[in-house]
Amino acid sequence: MLKTSTGVPGLDDMFMGGIPTGRVVLLMGGPGSGKTILSAQYLINGIQKYKENGVFVTLEESPSHIREEASLFKWDFQKMEDSGKLKIVDASPIRRNTDDQKLDKLLIGGREFSMVGLIDAIQRNMKEVGAKRLVVDGMAALIFQFPEENKRRTAILDLIDALISTEATCLMTLELKSAGLDRILQPEEYLTDGVILMQTYKIGKVFSRIIQIEKMRRCEIDHQPRPYRITNDGIEVFPKEAVF
Ligand SMILES: Nc1ncnc2c1ncn2[C@@H]1O[C@H](COP(=O)(O)OP(=O)(O)OP(=O)(O)O)[C@@H](O)[C@H]1O
Ligand SMILES: [Mg+2]
Repeated sequence: MLKTSTGVPGLDDMFMGGIPTGRVVLLMGGPGSGKTILSAQYLINGIQKYKENGVFVTLEESPSHIREEASLFKWDFQKMEDSGKLKIVDASPIRRNTDDQKLDKLLIGGREFSMVGLIDAIQRNMKEVGAKRLVVDGMAALIFQFPEENKRRTAILDLIDALISTEATCLMTLELKSAGLDRILQPEEYLTDGVILMQTYKIGKVFSRIIQIEKMRRCEIDHQPRPYRITNDGIEVFPKEAVF
């Protein structure tokens, strides 16, 4: 099985080498858990360590905000963009969905059309840089547009199908609604091939950041929750340390 290394220290060990290439993985976590940082790290590693170009689709924050956050870790997104290795797709207008929204050169009308526009923008930008890695950051903005469960499910499955057809390895980030060991599962967790959880647990008197691969279909993984840290270099996972 072909694997795609995230390059995030320790995380590839949990995946027994890396994320199976071409799969879509949902990265779920609470606010400030590091979803955007991990996603940016995944793309920058792809470019710098593995010569794989990437596309970062932002549904909530503006591209300049994303560049700024990346620069805190000395990841120069602008330079990667200028050299044609990275594209940031600004899909944040989707959040302010009105009758006529401009989404990356595409006029999108009602709700259903915004999905078509988004998928088109993703595919076009991926083709332009020959992307092997894709990040869709802030899925909640999209999900909120489909209050009806049926329509939401169809829309997300359409998006996943479109992402799979690109043959790139994709990370989609989504906020975790409830935390803890007995948290309520979110419907989206059933739709993707893989799910990674990033949470904060109170163990004894201290809060610890914990990462866990909830599932990765058709692939052997380390199911155990493992500690991780956010430092000036980004995210580091400790795959040999037990949590509980
Ligand atoms: N240099 C650093 N050292 C340690 N922690 C840091 C550093 N820079 C940022 N952080 C932590 O990273 C977190 C932000 O990470 P990130 O933006 O990736 O979270 P997120 O999961 O995307 O959040 P949101 O759901 O709000 O988008 C903050 O909580 C902050 O504590
Ligand atoms: Mg974020």
